[in-house]
Amino acid sequence: MKRLVIASIPLLFLAAAEAQDLADGPGKDTFVKICSACHDAAVVVTMHNSKDDWQATVDDMKGRGAEGSDDEFKAIIGYLAKYQGPEVNVNKATAKDLETQLEITTSEAAAIVKYRQDKGDFKEWADLQKVADLDIKKIEPLKGRITF
Ligand code: HEC
Repeated sequence: MKRLVIASIPLLFLAAAEAQDLADGPGKDTFVKICSACHDAAVVVTMHNSKDDWQATVDDMKGRGAEGSDDEFKAIIGYLAKYQGPEVNVNKATAKDLETQLEITTSEAAAIVKYRQDKGDFKEWADLQKVADLDIKKIEPLKGRITF
């Protein structure tokens, strides 16, 4: 019995650490409120899905007993589609994809493409911060979706 208690302590820390990794943004509070009723809301933190797939997951959870209003579920799907949306490889994505996926301007997307053409592939987040014409604060909340 004692061993079981001790073994569960690191798991609790892990759950707390994961919860902090959830991106801040519209719909987060609704998501945490409704989606942590049965399991830690942070189960989604490493998942990257399209809006349609999130819609399907949320429908599945409704079938399992998740309770909320239509507006609340809409907010949850919006939150997940944005912050847990598909991954974006900043070295391979086209300017158009960068623009739509990361919700940046046409000129910011062009600046990312120009930077990688001039200087080679981005290797880490710090490289993206060097793109002068990109407002890095805008894409900071989407950090979890960006790959190199
Ligand atoms: C009524 C209880 C309940 C609520 C509320 C609930 N879920 Fe679940 N969820 C489950 C159960 C049970 C499973 C495990 C399903 C399985 O393993 O087959 C699960 C599993 C999941 C998984 C899969 C995890 C994995 O590792 O593959 C995701 C993602 C998920 N839930 C998201 C959500 C979201 C988003 C919400 C809020 C809309 C939510 N859940 C609310 C019961 C719930």
